[in-house]
Amino acid sequence: MDKYLIRGGKRLYGDFFVQGAKNAVLPLFAASILTKDKVVISNCPALLDVANMANILESLGATVVREGNLVEINPKDADKIEIPCSLAKELRSSIFLLGSILGRRKCAKIAYPGGCDIGLRPIDIHLKGLETLNVDIKDQNGYIYCDATKIRGGNVVLDYPSVGATENVMMAAVTAQGVTTINNAAREPEIFELQQFLNAMGAKIKGAGSSLITIQGVESLHGAEYKTMPDRIVAGTMLICAAMCGGSVTVCNCNSKHLQALASKLQQSSCKLSIFNDKIELASKGKLFAIESIETQPYPGFPTDLQAPIMAMQAISCGTSIITENIFETRFKHVPELIKMGAKIKVSGRSAFVRGVPRLVGTGLVAEDLRGGACLVLAGLKAEGTTTISNINHIDRGYEDWEQQLTALGADISREKQ
Ligand code: EPZ
Repeated sequence: MDKYLIRGGKRLYGDFFVQGAKNAVLPLFAASILTKDKVVISNCPALLDVANMANILESLGATVVREGNLVEINPKDADKIEIPCSLAKELRSSIFLLGSILGRRKCAKIAYPGGCDIGLRPIDIHLKGLETLNVDIKDQNGYIYCDATKIRGGNVVLDYPSVGATENVMMAAVTAQGVTTINNAAREPEIFELQQFLNAMGAKIKGAGSSLITIQGVESLHGAEYKTMPDRIVAGTMLICAAMCGGSVTVCNCNSKHLQALASKLQQSSCKLSIFNDKIELASKGKLFAIESIETQPYPGFPTDLQAPIMAMQAISCGTSIITENIFETRFKHVPELIKMGAKIKVSGRSAFVRGVPRLVGTGLVAEDLRGGACLVLAGLKAEGTTTISNINHIDRGYEDWEQQLTALGADISREKQ
């Protein structure tokens, strides 16, 4: 696995162009098999997770052709109903295909996607939602067998506003007879994207972005062309990066409405933000006040995917910060790595108590998961001396051409092929 080599202490200046959203495009790929017509998705980031999802679609019988950031999916022959264990383990988001395979074939056999580095990642809410639509679900030796021949609309109430469960129920319901409501639905912008994409394919959905989504089942869906929304987590990671390193960076091609929770926290830390619809300018002296309390919450609260990146920032801010991770149960794997650099952090239960230090010192680090890896890059860019980060394939899952874009801003970062 490749390594990053980072020489820290450089200020950053210039424009950063945000890629298409990974967590929007993955459900769009899954939804594409709900039609037999061609689907074209633009602004599609070239990421490991997206390539893995394309492999899964091809294992179902679809063809997926990429030209730059345009991806053409031909789902005409995507009639298989099984997600192989190897691919399901490879990619957590394979579970999104359950809803779309059921929407297309009315039956599915899928391996449990399994946990990953940030938590158990159960799918009980997904399955309960599908059962409310009269899907018969059995699980035997690690596989889930679903029979949706009698699927029909129903009133789903999610015990928790799960992003994936909301998306799965939406995709299963679009061609189910009758009306489906999803109460306590996730409100993330990626859900709204999925609604817009499915409606472009002929679905009848409204309410995405609020806690109540209503779906009127239709006979069938047709092809569509769709441009993916900007990745709010990559945009947020870069705002935090600029705040830490100091300098002046404009994060372009973003949707600033998706970043309000982060922006209000950054304003507490003495950064100067100029916020426009599709870009945010950030100026920082690199000397930051600690943000007293950060609690991750479902959207529109502070996003769990920015918890690790903002912890790197708090590690070098003046004062103490309490960061509470309310969404996933083991999402602090970046803490021991930050401590190796001289950070002062104590974890107790779901909270990390961060006492800012004047400087971090570069050393050898290991990325354990996607956003934890991004946190280590930010810490290395700020630290004195040289930092190496191994296992950066985790980071490649979510950040496209990151070292090239950081270098263009003045960072000293390079990839060592292993
Ligand atoms: C999506 O994961 C994102 N992934 C995650 O981004 C993101 O952190 C998460 O939403 C929260 O915003 C994609 O969109 C591909 P959840 P998802 O279902 O759908 C529990 C990244 O770094 N839960 O909202 O898996 C679950 O264990 C990734 O890009 C159940 O208990 O998130 C977790 O504690 C990481 N039972 C909480 O809910 C269920 O059936 C939130 O999970 C489902 C979820």
